[in-house]
Amino acid sequence: MPLAQRDRSPRHLSAEAYYALKVRPIYRTYPIYAPGREPAGYLEWLKQREPEVVFDPAKLKTKQDWIEAGKLVFEHEPLMVPLPEKGLFFPTPLPPSPEGVLPPFIPGNRYIIRKKGVLEVGINSCAGCHTRVMPDGSYLPGAQGAVDFRSDEAAIQRAREITPERLKRRLETRWILYGVPWVESKEEFFAQMTKEEYARDVAAAHRGTIARQGTSVSHGPHIPSLIGLKDVRYLDSTGFARHRSIGDLARYAVTNQGLDTLAHYGDFQPSTEETPFSSEKGTRYSDEQLYALGLYIYSLTPPKNPNPVDDLAKRGQKVFTREGCGGCHTPPLYTSNKLTLAKGFRTPADLKKTEDILEVSVGTDATLALRSRRGTGFYKIPSLRGVWYRNAFGHGGWVDTLEEWFDPARVKNDYVPKNYWMKPGAVEGHEFGLKLSDEERRALIAFLKTL
Ligand code: HEC
Ligand code: HEC
Repeated sequence: MPLAQRDRSPRHLSAEAYYALKVRPIYRTYPIYAPGREPAGYLEWLKQREPEVVFDPAKLKTKQDWIEAGKLVFEHEPLMVPLPEKGLFFPTPLPPSPEGVLPPFIPGNRYIIRKKGVLEVGINSCAGCHTRVMPDGSYLPGAQGAVDFRSDEAAIQRAREITPERLKRRLETRWILYGVPWVESKEEFFAQMTKEEYARDVAAAHRGTIARQGTSVSHGPHIPSLIGLKDVRYLDSTGFARHRSIGDLARYAVTNQGLDTLAHYGDFQPSTEETPFSSEKGTRYSDEQLYALGLYIYSLTPPKNPNPVDDLAKRGQKVFTREGCGGCHTPPLYTSNKLTLAKGFRTPADLKKTEDILEVSVGTDATLALRSRRGTGFYKIPSLRGVWYRNAFGHGGWVDTLEEWFDPARVKNDYVPKNYWMKPGAVEGHEFGLKLSDEERRALIAFLKTL
């Protein structure tokens, strides 16, 4: 989709330049154990292993073979990082398995052998952000990611004590990831990100949200669930990419794994190097890997819904209909798949002809849609299927639960949101369902949790 600022819409590298990149083989990976749990002689054994390429299209015959191979692509870490000398690359509070194995989808939690005798770890797999830890401790691939990437107390404390030199280095990286020179100059970007603001941002990161590159440091998006993606017509909160085919999904995947920071936005090219959110420089997925990845994502199904369709939920369905929610969250997908306007944006004439746009604004914060590199001027209408196993609602993931999303207090100026927020204040917009009685609200939420 074009950006709200048309002449800054990304121009990606040419097909020729893209196909000249080297395909990344996908190697077998090995578990990393929690301290004290590693079997005796494990590392020595690993050092004797030959590298083994596990994705081999020649061996894929049936559709099921392709889907299973797609899982390997989903879990593949495309950017290698130095093996941490002590501790883990990404400390998380998630417990190891009964065998002592660290959660394998957390970045840096698997050994990769690309060369005999050399152990490496990698980051940025799709699984790292798109896996949920369910209440029973199981991992649900494709669902909204649940990892707190930065918000542990030690990280917040380190942010508060950051030295000016370190902060400057961090901001250089952030400019590459989030800079929008047509909205804010580099000088302005640096000036407003004081040490206090930086620490506030680190503390603001919460379960279910992450400021992906090209979004916004202060107004990052929630991580969407990929379960049911086949029916979704626009990708990202801002409808940044059309989704008409598995090819569109493949293009989305490759640009999002770092080629977007190499793109040109008018005369601005964020970087010519790899970035913290990208793949190894000079490499790409193969088309077969991407096709398998798409089939795998499309094959993901929701877990069994434990919430009963009881009398309360049935009353809630009536409230849903009466309040007109279905006009936008239309059954059976519980989205009309349309885009809505960000506050203050008007639909360009050509897009009226080609896109599915409902020309109203629900009045949520416009920063991501108007002041970021994914800013199309629109917010898509999200599907409500599977809200029972999600948190971080609203495109910015500001509130933690449905109860909070429908709490009328959230639009008051002194409100303190419970999930992602930089400063206390109203979670504005989308005032649907805020004027219900307590009983009706309970019923509506009970109904939504059955979807
Ligand atoms: C660092 C975390 C991270 C990684 C790694 C990641 N994603 Fe995402 N993904 C996100 C976030 C955050 C969004 C929401 C962006 C937005 O709304 O602007 C997103 C959005 C998406 C969407 C759009 C879905 C929708 O309904 O709008 C798709 C599809 C997707 N990711 C697929 C992938 C695939 C495939 C991979 C691996 C190639 C991947 N992601 C890797 C965090 C991540
Ligand atoms: C005019 C269209 C419209 C109507 C009517 C509407 N919504 Fe929405 N809804 C949206 C849009 C657009 C968003 C995303 C807004 C954003 O994040 O900026 C959304 C977001 C949501 C979310 C958060 C989902 C998520 O993934 O974060 C829930 C829950 C929701 N709506 C439920 C309802 C219910 C229940 C009603 C009726 C009481 C309703 N909506 C009425 C357009 C609508």
